[in-house]
Amino acid sequence: MIQRLRGTRDFTPVEMAKRNSLEAVLRKISAEYGFREIQTPVMESSELFVLKSGPGILEEMYAFEDKGGRKISLRPELTAPIIRFFVNELSNYPLPLKVFCISDVFRYEEPQSGRYREFAQYDVESIGSDRPEADAELLILASDLCSRLGLKNVNIRIGHVGIIREKLDKMGIPRDTQADFLRLMDKRKIGEATDLLLKAGMGSSQSRELIDLCQTRGDGGIARTLKGEKAEYLLKVVSFLEATGTVSYEIDMGVVRGLDYYTGIVFEIDANDLGAEKQICGGGSYELTRLFGGNAVPSTGFAFGFDRLILAMEKAGWKCGESTVDCFVLAVSDEEKAAMLKIATALRRKGIGTEIDLMGRNMSKGLKYASARGAKFSVIVGGREIASGKLTVRDMDTGKQEEVPVDSIAEYMLGRTGQKRISS
Ligand code: HAM
Repeated sequence: MIQRLRGTRDFTPVEMAKRNSLEAVLRKISAEYGFREIQTPVMESSELFVLKSGPGILEEMYAFEDKGGRKISLRPELTAPIIRFFVNELSNYPLPLKVFCISDVFRYEEPQSGRYREFAQYDVESIGSDRPEADAELLILASDLCSRLGLKNVNIRIGHVGIIREKLDKMGIPRDTQADFLRLMDKRKIGEATDLLLKAGMGSSQSRELIDLCQTRGDGGIARTLKGEKAEYLLKVVSFLEATGTVSYEIDMGVVRGLDYYTGIVFEIDANDLGAEKQICGGGSYELTRLFGGNAVPSTGFAFGFDRLILAMEKAGWKCGESTVDCFVLAVSDEEKAAMLKIATALRRKGIGTEIDLMGRNMSKGLKYASARGAKFSVIVGGREIASGKLTVRDMDTGKQEEVPVDSIAEYMLGRTGQKRISS
């Protein structure tokens, strides 16, 4: 037997029904907030991600050379491809350009529960604004989504990496060391982060002050205690959130995001019931356009881990009905197979989800199968039915049978399935 690759998954019809229903909600809510769907290729030049995150990223990606010797990677995330697309082809659109994408990404990580090598993200990017209302709109969308999906025990943590970077700049800490520091703080490795600052020449009281700042957590009031333009910006964002009265959040200055490209507001959302891999969303504001050859255009965005969203929804008690059919058509013998297909076609053309017997089952086995597939009705086509011009229709819930003229079966079924149709 050939095994599927580590960290990848197959999805059963039941799981696909769940995924499709979540996708439908995501598309609906995105449209409500004025975001439009786009798509980018699964493969990109490795250079795109190296430019964004440095050569170290190659270790974490599916990176390879194609037959023409080109260096290619399966995308590990969607932000860089979307900004590449914007710089190359979408920059004439009026700003802000608000887009979203629901797609698979690939990371060469150690798989575990909730952590895969192939997984989907729901990525949202608002390109063109550097104003606090743009960050606030995204946070409101993310929070609204969590509540509409019925997630419980969710924690939105908001920081401002620009405030931390400004302090590091003032203390003359080089950019490379800053990136290392932010990566350590992202993993909450306080000891190692302190050592790094000391090694870079920062005094012990200054480094303690910075580490203390990164460990500051609490309600929106914290933004008032911080000083400077960037703190004022953070305060504006949280005041907008408070004005909606619907977003519950905390300020956590330790949210710095491990990736180098964020410049301002940063945030993460945890679904606390998920255990180790509980982070369901991450995002913030950044500027990548110049790096990819365009003019400076500020952006802000986030990505939800689609698969972790499903896990969190299931923990919150989400049930999604399996996709079933309205109707199962069964021929009693080979003589009626053509009639079975003709009747099924008439039903399908009316939009009635219809399955036919493809296994040559007898009546009782056919009805058993129809019941297992969740069919609401079975239509029995036998010699007697053909001779009389009337089909036997069985209501699979009650077991009651009726005779219906062949010519009006589609209309009849439309009326009967009206309320319990799966296809409407
Ligand atoms: P990220 O934090 O790397 O951000 O990923 C976003 C989300 O993807 C995470 O919060 C998590 O839910 C999910 N995720 C990450 N790794 C895995 C994995 N191995 N298996 C399952 N789920 C995973 C980004 O990707 C940024 N591009 C977000 C962004 C958009 N920033 C600005 N715009």
